Amino acid sequence: LLSCGSRKTVQKGKLMDFTSTVIIPLLFGSLGIFGLYRLLQWVRMRAYLQGAVVLITGATSGLGKECAKAFHAAGSRLVLCGRDGEKLKELVQQLSTVTNHQKNTYKPHAVVFDLSNTKAVLNAAEEILKYSGHVDILINNAGISFRGTVVDTGLDVDKKVMETNYFGPIALTKALLPSMIKRRQGHIVAISSIQGKISIPFRSA
Ligand SMILES: NC(=O)c1ccc[n+]([C@@H]2O[C@H](COP(=O)([O-])OP(=O)(O)OC[C@H]3O[C@@H](n4cnc5c(N)ncnc54)[C@H](OP(=O)(O)O)[C@@H]3O)[C@@H](O)[C@H]2O)c1
Repeated sequence: LLSCGSRKTVQKGKLMDFTSTVIIPLLFGSLGIFGLYRLLQWVRMRAYLQGAVVLITGATSGLGKECAKAFHAAGSRLVLCGRDGEKLKELVQQLSTVTNHQKNTYKPHAVVFDLSNTKAVLNAAEEILKYSGHVDILINNAGISFRGTVVDTGLDVDKKVMETNYFGPIALTKALLPSMIKRRQGHIVAISSIQGKISIPFRSA
């Protein structure tokens, strides 16, 4: 009985030794490496955003406007797009008053066009490339939605939604992509909706 008890104590001691000499240092080491990796990623991202050309569609309100404020604060060169020229002008003025002394802030550039008009999209892409030379980050954010039953929703609404939310961003992306491929650099962000995955009543369009 005694020897069995002492064997158990020895085994417990070995397990404690293994925990304190292998598992705990491994755990803290991994956490440290992960933390350092995240920190380096954060520093790299901050450096990348400084001076990067960021194009945001639907910048006049909601998510697009908030993205504009965040990227401006990070020192990016903004190209802000929307249909409402007055709202875009207001946003440019609002952002131009915000200066971050640790960052080089650029005056945003506004481009007015309707995403549901392919010709206007292509002209806008040309104008943007002429202005900035390239786009580092394209944020396809603009979009519309419609509430109604499938039966009551006219085909004209379905077409408008697809032209604005799908074909418009596709046309803009295709127009800017060659310059990204040429530079072997660029990011494309697509802002969509969870409603593409789940069905909600009255949100067929
Ligand atoms: N907010 C949400 O809860 C939510 C949920 C799911 C998905 N989303 C998606 O997230 C994105 C932003 O949503 P939000 O709520 O921030 O939108 P929002 O406030 O309604 O703003 C929509 C933006 O899209 C622009 N826009 C609309 N039609 C356009 C067109 N034909 N051509 C060019 N620009 C056009 C508008 O600009 P102008 O007024 O200047 O035309 C506006 O800046 C959308 O794609 C939306 O579908 C949002």
